[in-house]
Amino acid sequence: MRICMIGTGYVGLVSGTCFAEIGHEVICVDNDKNKIDVLQSGGMPIYEPGLDELVKKNVKAGRLSFTTNTGEGVDKSLFVFIAVGTPPKDNGDPDLSSIEQVAIEIGAAMRDYKIIIEKSTVPVQTGQWVRMVVERFNKHGSEFDVASNPEFLREGSAINDFLYPDRIVLGVESKRAEQKLLELYDPVDAPKIVTDIASAELIKHASNSFLSTKISFINALSVICEKSGGDVTKVAEGMGLDKRIGCDFLNAGAGFGGFCFPKDLKAFIGISAKLGYDFRLLKEVENINEEQMLRVVKKTEELVWNLRDKKIGILGLAFKPKTDDMRFAPSITIINALMNEGATVKAYDPVAMERAKKVMPDIEYCDNAYDVAKGVDAIVLVTEWDEFAKMDLQKVKEMMRQPVFVDGRNVFEPAEMQKLGFIYVGIGR
Ligand code: UDX
Repeated sequence: MRICMIGTGYVGLVSGTCFAEIGHEVICVDNDKNKIDVLQSGGMPIYEPGLDELVKKNVKAGRLSFTTNTGEGVDKSLFVFIAVGTPPKDNGDPDLSSIEQVAIEIGAAMRDYKIIIEKSTVPVQTGQWVRMVVERFNKHGSEFDVASNPEFLREGSAINDFLYPDRIVLGVESKRAEQKLLELYDPVDAPKIVTDIASAELIKHASNSFLSTKISFINALSVICEKSGGDVTKVAEGMGLDKRIGCDFLNAGAGFGGFCFPKDLKAFIGISAKLGYDFRLLKEVENINEEQMLRVVKKTEELVWNLRDKKIGILGLAFKPKTDDMRFAPSITIINALMNEGATVKAYDPVAMERAKKVMPDIEYCDNAYDVAKGVDAIVLVTEWDEFAKMDLQKVKEMMRQPVFVDGRNVFEPAEMQKLGFIYVGIGR
């Protein structure tokens, strides 16, 4: 089946490539000429494990192509996905102007029946706006349906998440669109939930908010564990084995970041307020997350006494492992707070340093974890990259000025770290 994917950012590029992988013919469109040039010449504008090979494979097979021409993409396709960015405005509301622009372009380009599908994360009721705008610019009076098909892709495992999802959500307004979309997703073996458009839009916001709530819950519990002598990893295990709760997303740590959770949470609080509901629970989820990042700084201060003129080594900068994404990364909040207290910071991340340099030009960047350890008064582990778990800890300790280790992701066992001679503290244990 023929698909036009408008927006070759993270969501659009992964989804478009995976649709090609399951046998469809996909044209990816972007108005950023540089990005399309890079893709057409075999390059890759983002870092996502496995994506490079998958793009090459499907381009070679003739199922995947790139263009800056929206009209061409729309004309050749039955399904038109909107996967453009909805970045937060200063007040936290998502900026939907790109969606509007794309809806105008689709309306003007359509010459026969199309199914126009929202893939970007959008506020509930955006579908109605898309329908209205497409209708206004529908020059040829073509028939069309609007649908919502939210994505649940995690950076670092996005391809797997697309090909083997827990569920596929299809918000539709006609039987015709429902049948076509079910056919489109037929090669993917997963439960398919068919709903109205508003419910589909809400499922996305509700899922991300609920997952953020789970993380803030366990982070709040980590404080209670510290004060009462419990071990949050054990409490999480004991809770998670209850099938109604589940073990995932119960890792206490230095807070959540990334371009989805913080942004979507803020947006959902705003959407709820506009609908007349003060979603206080989610406001607290945000507050706990902010506090959790700063608690890492507090823990460091408690172990080195004064932060002024201390040298602190940071392991991991990306908002989570296996990505170079620095957007809303907890490392930024933590490093800024350390520097405000007068500490100097050196850091290492396996892939995110180039991006980090743009947001934090004033710290020292190192070639590896051992360089970070050299001469520091404390190490703070912020992102749990595999290579940190495999470090030669004896060597790390010998290189440090003081063997203070703040493990913001509970990578190491406290007893073993203490046995090695570290002054060690984790989160909630
Ligand atoms: C998330 C959603 O999982 C995905 O479904 C959605 O479509 C986009 O947003 P992503 O932002 O890529 O995906 O990352 P995710 O793996 O969900 O992690 C988000 C943040 O939560 C990271 O900063 C991570 O470190 C943190 N986290 C996650 C925890 O602190 N504890 C956990 O138990 C799980």
